[in-house]
Amino acid sequence: MESLKLSIDNVFKFVSKDSIFELKDKALNIIKSLYERTGMGNDFLGWVKMPSLITEEDMKAIDEVTADIKKNNIDFFVVIGIGGSYLGTKAVYDALSNNFIQLKKDHAYPRLLFAGHNIGEDYLSELLEILEDRKYAMAVISKSGTTLEPAIGFRILRAHLIKQVGEAKAGDLIIAITDPDKGTLRAMAGKTISKSFTIPPDIGGRYSVFTNVALVPLSIAGFDIRSFIQGARDMQKQTGPDVPFEENPAAIYAATRYKLNSTNKKIEILANFENRLHYLAEWWKQLYAESEGKVGKGIYPTSVDFTTDLHSMGQYIQEGERSIFETVMSVKRTKRKLAIPIEKTDADNLNYLAGRRIDEVNKMAEKGTIKAHVDGGVPNIHIELPELNEYYMGQLMYFFEIACGTSGYLLEINPFNQPGVEEYKKNMFALLGKPQKK
Ligand code: PA5
Repeated sequence: MESLKLSIDNVFKFVSKDSIFELKDKALNIIKSLYERTGMGNDFLGWVKMPSLITEEDMKAIDEVTADIKKNNIDFFVVIGIGGSYLGTKAVYDALSNNFIQLKKDHAYPRLLFAGHNIGEDYLSELLEILEDRKYAMAVISKSGTTLEPAIGFRILRAHLIKQVGEAKAGDLIIAITDPDKGTLRAMAGKTISKSFTIPPDIGGRYSVFTNVALVPLSIAGFDIRSFIQGARDMQKQTGPDVPFEENPAAIYAATRYKLNSTNKKIEILANFENRLHYLAEWWKQLYAESEGKVGKGIYPTSVDFTTDLHSMGQYIQEGERSIFETVMSVKRTKRKLAIPIEKTDADNLNYLAGRRIDEVNKMAEKGTIKAHVDGGVPNIHIELPELNEYYMGQLMYFFEIACGTSGYLLEINPFNQPGVEEYKKNMFALLGKPQKK
């Protein structure tokens, strides 16, 4: 089986290989402390071993609910959640679905729709319009079970579904995914919602993609969750504390980012040349921003879709302030093949490309862009995935998670809390007149 490949050759012009490798013991000790739960935020480290701890029994429970939901012949499955409660699902769904209609070829599975990740009145109204004459089911996903955005989305959608099919039938079409003991959603799960799954208490939202949070909706949408988990398990083996630094992509990625940051590279741009990875970057941004951005520290994570954004952000990356570095996610093999046709008159002067695959052009754009950006003063980290499927998405997402925990500890911060997120909530609830808890 092939694997994700990491290359840092294009950073050595900016920081020496020796200075990165000097961090090797530190990085591996950090990974050890993540495994042994001896560092900061160690009550939220359940995700580290999660892929290897998922049992066939867990998978079977998901198979059962998938079959149960599928027998209703639904057109749509609505995922209600925000942050880590929807981004992992959306990232995998977009990366592996058709670029346009996002339906499996045989239409055997429902299309996923997302709600509860914003408070847009038009968004929710238009969603209700789409669902008006359609069969649908939904999952409401919230670790805390108290987040306002999904709570509002769920209240609206549940009322709509009850109106459409009646209260008893709606019960068959709603799944709650939340903490096993705490929160409003768990309390509802015991009464108004009959189907429910748990999120381990020691796994925070942005590290929860290998739990029921994403596995349940992805399975319902027809994806191979066993292969997704296998990819994560294999990456867990490749990034463990006993894997030498030279062979450990997560330790190398974390150490390289840390070293670049110490030379005033304050912004990391995650770039793709496959636009279906757009939401993978959104998931990565949440993971790194909420994990690292605290006590005045952290690399600011941002992202671009190439070649599209070469015609907008490309100018800044090439010539703007030199406080950035780039991490390119490259996909070796496309799913499909398409060549550029020959044209008799060559009126558009493109015959020099005739017979060549579109992907060859894309790959040359990628090579040319990396060279231009490195020459222009932007260090480059390169991650290559053999192809886009469940297995390699599992590898990639686990790689980013373990590297993120490692990066956070290198920065000497707690990567597993998010105290800053509470600030806007306090103001909003005060403005809305939310009753104080007695
Ligand atoms: O990483 C986190 O814990 C957060 O970003 C959460 O994912 C987000 O705030 C949603 O929280 P909840 O799942 O409790 O509704």
